[in-house]
Amino acid sequence: MGVDSGLPAEIRGLFDWLDGMRATEPVHLDERTGSWHVFGYREVSRVYADPGLFSSDLGALMPSQPELELFAKGNFVRMDPPRQQELRRLVSRAFTSRTVAELAPRITEITDELLDAVGDRTELVEALTYPLPIVVIAELLGVPAGDRELFRGWADVMLSGTMRADEVVVGEETLRSYAPTMLAMFDYFTAQVRDRRARPGDDLISALVAAELDGQRLDDDEIAGFAIVLLVAGHVTTTAVLGTAVLLLDEHPEVAAALRADRSAVPAAIEEVLRCRPPFTRNLRRTTRAAELGGRTIPADTAVSVWLAAANRDPAQFPDPLAFDLRRSPNPHLSFGHGIHFCLGAPLARLESRIALERLFDRFAELRVDREQGVEYFPSAAMLFGARRLPVLLA
Ligand code: HEM
Repeated sequence: MGVDSGLPAEIRGLFDWLDGMRATEPVHLDERTGSWHVFGYREVSRVYADPGLFSSDLGALMPSQPELELFAKGNFVRMDPPRQQELRRLVSRAFTSRTVAELAPRITEITDELLDAVGDRTELVEALTYPLPIVVIAELLGVPAGDRELFRGWADVMLSGTMRADEVVVGEETLRSYAPTMLAMFDYFTAQVRDRRARPGDDLISALVAAELDGQRLDDDEIAGFAIVLLVAGHVTTTAVLGTAVLLLDEHPEVAAALRADRSAVPAAIEEVLRCRPPFTRNLRRTTRAAELGGRTIPADTAVSVWLAAANRDPAQFPDPLAFDLRRSPNPHLSFGHGIHFCLGAPLARLESRIALERLFDRFAELRVDREQGVEYFPSAAMLFGARRLPVLLA
């Protein structure tokens, strides 16, 4: 069974479009919007590898919005070197595989506490895939995990806007509708920063408060923006990959049975889940000058959609790309990006996903998706793909 067969028609439509475009025009100009799209694995990798030509600073392309500027100060995802490298270095030690491995017992404990509360029918996003990553990241940041409903409310608003595949930036109206939420997040985190200045703890916000760059301390706004990036980047994506893993295993019972029999294959299964259905279907870049790519010339100061979901299914890189194959090795998918912005949280996301899947297998001999109860996805698969409602039957 192909990897798309369990998807609703509109999401299958997006993947069909990506496959068709990659085969015929791996670098494509959308005449309507003047933006460019990149679909081929080779071309997508080249974009990621050249941050001087393909900038992450989209400022000039976005509608102007004061709340957005507040965010921009600590948001190193949307910065170029050298500032991006400087800010990233401040926290990178907290996210190495070795440091993250020390969190395994706590992640297992949180997973077990959450699973203790489920019955034989449950909605898995509410019960596990949402709270697990949010509690972990809240504990790392040192903000109360009890505020998770607040964070969820924010995430729901920030993910409520729909975005079509031919759009590159959210519209002005959608952005305006985000403003109160952006301000609420900002106020919350600046209060946390002030609190940590007064009472430092053993957490990332306190580490950022104490950090110095060229003898300069970060200001409250920068630290708040930084913390928001970690909170936002660190939870919905992991929620997405966990839900997708459960869905793909439900659609491929033979793979689920193989995994239950041989747990050492769980990490490979997670990589294949990430390859087949990446949480971020694309990343955005802006050309700093005219760029030659795949035989085309992209003009300067132009928005470029980098479709990692298309690159991950490029037959030139992945033989039989629509097969969900545990033996794919190596599996150089681009779901965590590539190059200098490669996902800082990848070791953490991999560890949380592995522990959650293993504990689900340990505790339930049967785990089935209850499709009759209605699986729902995030509204914009053309940016973020994953389940936001996932009813399951457990035994
Ligand atoms: C399966 C889960 C995850 C996926 C699929 C994912 C995906 C990505 C991707 C594609 C990028 C590159 C963005 C770009 O180049 O424009 C990225 C960057 C980033 N991710 Fe993740 N992410 C995940 C989990 C996490 C977690 C758990 C954290 C943190 C706790 C995190 C923090 C970050 C940060 C801070 C960056 C920006 C790095 C930089 O710009 O230098 N991510 N992620």
